[in-house]
Amino acid sequence: MRYHIVTFGCQMNAADSDWLSRRLDSFGWEKSPERDAEVFIVNTCSVRDKPEQKVYSVLGRLAEHRRANPRAFAAVGGCVAQQIGAGFFKRFPMVRLVFGADGVAQAPEALARLAAEPGLRLSLLDFIEHYPQRERSYPDAPLPAQAYVSIMQGCDNFCAYCIVPYVRGRQKSRPAGDVLAECRELTGRGVKEITLLGQNVNSYGQDRGSVSFAALLREVCAVPGLARVRFVTSHPKDLADEVIAAFGECQNLCPSLHLPMQSGSDAVLRRMGRKYTARDYLGLVDKLRRARADIALSTDVIVGFPGESEEDFLQTLDVVRQAGFDSAFSFMYCDRPGVAAAKLTPKVPEEVKAERLARLHEPVEALAEASLAARVGRRCRVLIEGPSKRAAADEASWRGRDEAGRTVNLDYEGPLDLTGKLVSALVREAKRHSLRGSVEEVHD
Ligand code: SAM
Ligand code: SF4
Ligand code: F3S
Repeated sequence: MRYHIVTFGCQMNAADSDWLSRRLDSFGWEKSPERDAEVFIVNTCSVRDKPEQKVYSVLGRLAEHRRANPRAFAAVGGCVAQQIGAGFFKRFPMVRLVFGADGVAQAPEALARLAAEPGLRLSLLDFIEHYPQRERSYPDAPLPAQAYVSIMQGCDNFCAYCIVPYVRGRQKSRPAGDVLAECRELTGRGVKEITLLGQNVNSYGQDRGSVSFAALLREVCAVPGLARVRFVTSHPKDLADEVIAAFGECQNLCPSLHLPMQSGSDAVLRRMGRKYTARDYLGLVDKLRRARADIALSTDVIVGFPGESEEDFLQTLDVVRQAGFDSAFSFMYCDRPGVAAAKLTPKVPEEVKAERLARLHEPVEALAEASLAARVGRRCRVLIEGPSKRAAADEASWRGRDEAGRTVNLDYEGPLDLTGKLVSALVREAKRHSLRGSVEEVHD
């Protein structure tokens, strides 16, 4: 069968789609462009902004392909599937499978069954109590140098604005032995960088009374031959001193951390249920910089949470400047069904949210530009992802990421294909969102 996957949402969805793809390939199915596919998989996200509409519009487009091939069918997975469930069957005759986060593990077998039994429809929407085990199924072909390894599923925090715990279920940590076995296998197969994934990795293990995240992280960093380790996402309330210390002690732990702050106002943080104050947050920033002076910090900020006053917003601007983020993602608050904040008032008018978002942009952009400018003239190690997008056909130009995850475009005169290689480079120029430099030495 020829299949096509459309993915929305976070890295966890991207990792789920990659896994589905590998698994279907192992059945002898073939990934194909949308116009040639017989099976469509839409992996959805419901965190913000009318996500259902986005999914409906993709499914509307896919339904066109059914005219050419009446046997073509679709599966809807991920967070919107968990929310709407069998509702998709009523609205879209083409949809024959819905699966939630805990159903991903069984989705490939379900798809194979559906391909063999045209009258059938299936739902995989139950939450299960333990981390759902999956076949590892890495292909024999060489693997990319960078990989994601899931360490947990779900979230127990129930921040007032967030739909994730409702659509991903309660927190379930993956057994540490399985995480380590996968990291060792990947490293043995030439993977150089592993990103550990979970909605709140710092509370890893708390649900099963197993090793802490700090302990797991150190074991992953100790996997022989693994050049780079990252992890995402961290909740400030659970960021342990041992994890902060690891930034100073583990050579291969990359000096970057995404630490969502959400607001700089204590009153708003309290109503969000975040369980830390602006001062606690800045205290963590301080400790992190003491552990690793060159750490690059990024964050998420929500503007216009219900009841956010101009004074609250000014506090957010102030904390953003003090924290000195290298980058920040900012979002306008939006109500999601069933979350606690949906009932909170007063709502902030849309035009005020938009205006605050624009005002937040200014310091964020200035900090980002300053952080890139500070790299000029310095050396860094870059893991090459592939040819640079902007390169002309005759230019030897490559794109990769430095230790802190910044995009670096590199000139290189040599004959080698640098994809997947670690190189030493000199940064010569800072662009708006990336760096430009030249390769000095090619390592492995
Ligand atoms: N688990 C991560 C955390 O704790 O930060 C990521 C959660 S969510 C997938 C990513 C970001 O979306 C959040 O950090 C938050 O800033 C934003 N977000 C979540 N719900 C939102 C909402 N209802 N309105 C606006 N932004 C929201
Ligand atoms: Fe959502 Fe909060 Fe869980 Fe993050 S920690 S996924 S923001 S409930
Ligand atoms: Fe979206 Fe679900 Fe991830 S809501 S951000 S795909 S956990």
